[in-house]
Amino acid sequence: MVAPFDATEFRRALGYLPTGVTVITTTGRFGQPVGMACNSFVSVSLQPPLVMFCAGNGSATLIDLRESGRFCVNILGADQGQLCRRFSVKDVDRFAGVPWTGSAAGPQLCDAIAWMSCAIEAEHVAGDHVIVIAQVNGLRVNEDAAAPLVFHRGGFGSFSAAADPVAATAAPPRRGAGAGASVLSTATRTASWRP
Ligand SMILES: Cc1cc2nc3c(=O)[nH]c(=O)nc-3n(C[C@H](O)[C@H](O)[C@H](O)COP(=O)(O)O)c2cc1C
Repeated sequence: MVAPFDATEFRRALGYLPTGVTVITTTGRFGQPVGMACNSFVSVSLQPPLVMFCAGNGSATLIDLRESGRFCVNILGADQGQLCRRFSVKDVDRFAGVPWTGSAAGPQLCDAIAWMSCAIEAEHVAGDHVIVIAQVNGLRVNEDAAAPLVFHRGGFGSFSAAADPVAATAAPPRRGAGAGASVLSTATRTASWRP
C-alpha cells in the first residue's frame, strides 16, 4: 500500500475524487470584479454556518480577498465547464461576456446554480496553500437548476441519480421481520460519471 510518489502522481491520485466546482469572486482594490475557479470549497460547520476553501499562496485573487474580507461563492452548473476553465487561466479578462450582478460580497455569476455571501473569519497556512475559513451570511439557490458541474480526473462531467441497486434487488421483507427490514429499501443516491 505504501509507495513513494511524486507531485504528479499525488495530483493524479487526488483527481480520482470527484468534486463540485465553484468560482470564488470578490471586488478588487479598484472596484473591479475578481474571481478564480476553485474545487476545494467545502462546508465546515452548520452552527455557525462556516465554509472553507484552499487558495494557492501565489493566487492573485487571494490578495484581493484579504483586502475585501468578503467573497461570493458561485456553484457552477453542468454546462459551465468552459467558464470554469476561463476562471483558471491568467492574462485574460475572466468576466468578459459573462453575465454577473454586483453584491456586497462579490460578483454573482448569473448562470450559477447557487450563491453564498461570505465573510472571512480565519486563514491558516497549509503547505503551499492557505485555508480560508468564512462565515456564510446570505445564500440563494436556483430551484430550477440543472445538474451541477463535476470535476474528475482533469475533466468535467455532471451528476445523475442512479437507481439504488440495493433497493432493486432486495427481497420483500419477511413477515414479522419488523422495522429493521425496511432499512434495505431505504433509497440512497449514487453518482454516475458522464465524461
Ligand atoms: C477545476 C479547477 C479547480 C481549481 N481549484 C482550485 C482551488 O481549489 N484552489 C486554488 O488555489 N486554485 C484552484 N484552481 C486553479 C486556479 O483557478 C488558478 O490557479 C487561477 O489561475 C488562480 O487565479 P489567480 O492567480 O488570479 O487567483 C482550480 C482550477 C480548476 C480548473
